[in-house]
Amino acid sequence: METRRIAAVLRDGQPDETVMVRGWVRTKRELKGFAFVEVNDGSALASLQVVLNADLQGYDAAIARINTGAAIAVGGTLVASQGKGQRIELQATSVNVYGEADPETYPLQKKRHSFEFLRTIGHLRARTNTLGAVFRVRNACATAVHRFFQKRGFLWVQTPIITTSDCEGAGELFTVTGLDLDKLPMAAGRVDFERDFFGRRAYLTVSGQLEAEVMALSFENVYTFGPTFRAENSNTSRHLAEFWMVEPEMAFCDLAGDADLAEEFLKYAFRTVLETCPEDMEFFNLRIDKSVLATAQNIIESEFARITYTEAIALLEKSGRAFEFPVEWGLDLQSEHERYLAEVCFQRPVIVTDYPVGIKAFYMRLNGDGITVAAMDVLAPKIGEIIGGSQREERYDVLDRRIRAAGMIPEDLWWYLELRRYGTVPHSGFGLGFERLIQFMTGMSNIRDVIPFPRAPQSADF
Ligand code: 4AD
Ligand code: MG
Repeated sequence: METRRIAAVLRDGQPDETVMVRGWVRTKRELKGFAFVEVNDGSALASLQVVLNADLQGYDAAIARINTGAAIAVGGTLVASQGKGQRIELQATSVNVYGEADPETYPLQKKRHSFEFLRTIGHLRARTNTLGAVFRVRNACATAVHRFFQKRGFLWVQTPIITTSDCEGAGELFTVTGLDLDKLPMAAGRVDFERDFFGRRAYLTVSGQLEAEVMALSFENVYTFGPTFRAENSNTSRHLAEFWMVEPEMAFCDLAGDADLAEEFLKYAFRTVLETCPEDMEFFNLRIDKSVLATAQNIIESEFARITYTEAIALLEKSGRAFEFPVEWGLDLQSEHERYLAEVCFQRPVIVTDYPVGIKAFYMRLNGDGITVAAMDVLAPKIGEIIGGSQREERYDVLDRRIRAAGMIPEDLWWYLELRRYGTVPHSGFGLGFERLIQFMTGMSNIRDVIPFPRAPQSADF
C-alpha cells in the first residue's frame, strides 16, 4: 500500500484507491459501531477524516489508545465523503498506533489556545492550525527567496556568523567568548572578554552586508539568507534577538535600482505564497486578519509609493496627528510614523529615501547635498520598516571620513576600505527582515509566532 502525504490525498485522491497515511490525531469522535478520527501530518491545513469501523480487527484496543495528539498510521480505501467540508475520506482497513498521548495531560485541546500559551509549549505548537500554516508559508517564502534570486543570476553567498566588525555601528552586538564562564577562577575581573576570540574581539553578526559587498565586487550580484543577531533588549512584537535576513548586494547599481529590486522581490514573494499556500492564506484571512488577502493583492498590483525622508517629514508635520514621538527633520522615524505613512497617506508600501546622514550607518553613500545619504527604507502597512538598504559609499576618502566620524577605527575595516582602492564601483543592497515579511503576509501580530524557536528576552526553552 502506497504511503501518501495527506495534502496529496486531499487534493488528488480518488474513490477506491488504497492508501496509507501517517500523522497526529486532531480529534476523535466515537459513535455507535464506528469512530471518526481526524489525522493531520503537517502537509496541509486540513486534516483527513478517517473512519474506523468497529468490526476492524483490534478496534477496541486501538480506539482506546487513539486520542488527540497520538501518532498513528492508517491504511485503507478512499471513499467519497458524505460529510460537508471534505471531498474524500479514508475507510480504514488497518491502524497502527505509534505513540499515545494521554488525554489527561496533552496540552492541546480542540478549543482555541492563546498565542501566549502556545509559546510556553514551543515543542507542540506546530501541531496547531495557525502555527502549522505559518511554518508552511515560511517555507514557501524561503524557497521563493532562492528562486527569485537564482532566476536573476544572483550568487548565494554564505557570510560568517562570527565576525569582528559591527556593520550597523549601533552597539547591538552579542559578544562571542570562547571561555566557559563556569570554569573561570576568581580572577575573572582580569580577563579581557573583549579579546577572547583567539585574541580578538568577536561578535555574532548583525548583518552579512559588509561581506556581501566583498562578494558583489567579484560576482556583481549576490545575496545572503541566514540568521543575524541583535542584542536589543526590546520586548516588542517586531523585534527578535535572532532573526533571518535576506541581503542582496549589487555592483553597478544605484539606489533607484535597489528600490526596484526590493519592490519586485516583495511582489514575487506574495505571488508565490498565494499560489503555493492558498488554503493557508485563506485561513489567515478568515481567522487572523481580515485584510490578509486584500493586502496581498494590493502588494502585487500596486506601484509602491516613493518619497524622500524630507517629504515624509512634511507629510507627518501636516498630518495633525498627536504622535507619541517627536517629528522633526533630523530625527529617525518611529514605527508609528512609518505606519502612518504606509497606512494613512498611501495605503500601500512606501519607499522612503535620502535620510539625514546623522541617523544612518557609516557605509551609506553621502549625497551631493552633504546632509543626506542614499538610504532607503521600505515601510509596510501594519509593520512599519520591513526593508532597510542603501547605495554604499564607494569613494575611498569619503568612506574613510565617515568611518572616523562614526567613532570607528579605519584599521579595523582595512579590507572594506581597500575594496574602494581596487576596482571600486557604485553598488547597492538591502536587508529584508524575513520574520517581518512573514508577519506582513500572514497578519500575525507577534514576531515570536512566525519563527519556530524565537530568541527574545524571556525565551528560555530550547
Ligand atoms: O535596517 P537594518 O538594520 O539594515 C541592515 O542591517 C543592513 N546592513 C541591511 C543591508 O543593507 N544589507 O535591518 C534590515 C531589516 C530591517 O528592515 C528589519 O526588517 C529587520 O532587518 N530587522 C529585524 N527583524 C527582527 N528583529 C530585529 N531585531 C530586527 N532588526 C532589524
Ligand atoms: Mg533599518
